[in-house]
Amino acid sequence: MFYVFSSPAAIAEHLSQQLLEHIRNQPATTLGLATGSTMEPVYAALLKQIAQDPIDLSQLTTYNLDEYIGLPASHPQSYNHYMHHHLFDALGLKAAQTHLPNGLCTDCDHECHDYSAAIAQAGGLDFQLLGVGSNGHIGFNEPGTAFDSRTHVVELSETTRIDNGRFFDSMDEVPTHAITLGIRDILDAKEIVLVATGEHKAATMDLLYRTPADPQMPASALKLHANVRIYLDPAAASRLPEEALYYVD
Ligand code: F6R
Repeated sequence: MFYVFSSPAAIAEHLSQQLLEHIRNQPATTLGLATGSTMEPVYAALLKQIAQDPIDLSQLTTYNLDEYIGLPASHPQSYNHYMHHHLFDALGLKAAQTHLPNGLCTDCDHECHDYSAAIAQAGGLDFQLLGVGSNGHIGFNEPGTAFDSRTHVVELSETTRIDNGRFFDSMDEVPTHAITLGIRDILDAKEIVLVATGEHKAATMDLLYRTPADPQMPASALKLHANVRIYLDPAAASRLPEEALYYVD
């Protein structure tokens, strides 16, 4: 389950190759995407590889994990803005190919229901990319979220608001709520890769390794899935026992 690479750049290189191979084999792939610092090198590597070896993405469909409530798509910290900035615009994907929850929803429960339904209608997610919060959240499924949850509105934990506060000018500006794909939606993906890099994720990975599937540690839900890989750099893997690790390069 735990694969160790020499650096975040080595993970990005490997993972982007893996994604492109998936799309070459199955052009109508439905991809589940994450945002956050961890994914930035992955998207940069993907763009670099596509520039060197172009690929037809006209049948690709993407669904993002989450979005803050209350931020317009144009807000520099909205996940919509992040995806356009780091990936979508450079790939030239059409608006109809990419999906994020609408953070300006007026009937958010309805919006959430429709988001899970649209993914199911599209045949489910073929490949889900995940990062992980320091408290073990996946998407914005905070500790305590039921494993059978579908897309829902979440009140962000204080830990998550503080972690993500680094992107905002002040804590007052950090949204208090978000929409996230549920844990059941994530587990319905056919294949899942979670990436964790940096010393600040080492304790989280240690907790994940030691916790049997338990809603208090949301990422532990992945232990219920048959096709999950966790890609780590040496810093994030530093607290795990050697026998749990598979070294890739
Ligand atoms: C973002 C998301 C979150 C992040 C997690 C890690 O779409 O779903 O679960 O993956 O908070 O964020 P970084 O990579 O910034 O440490």
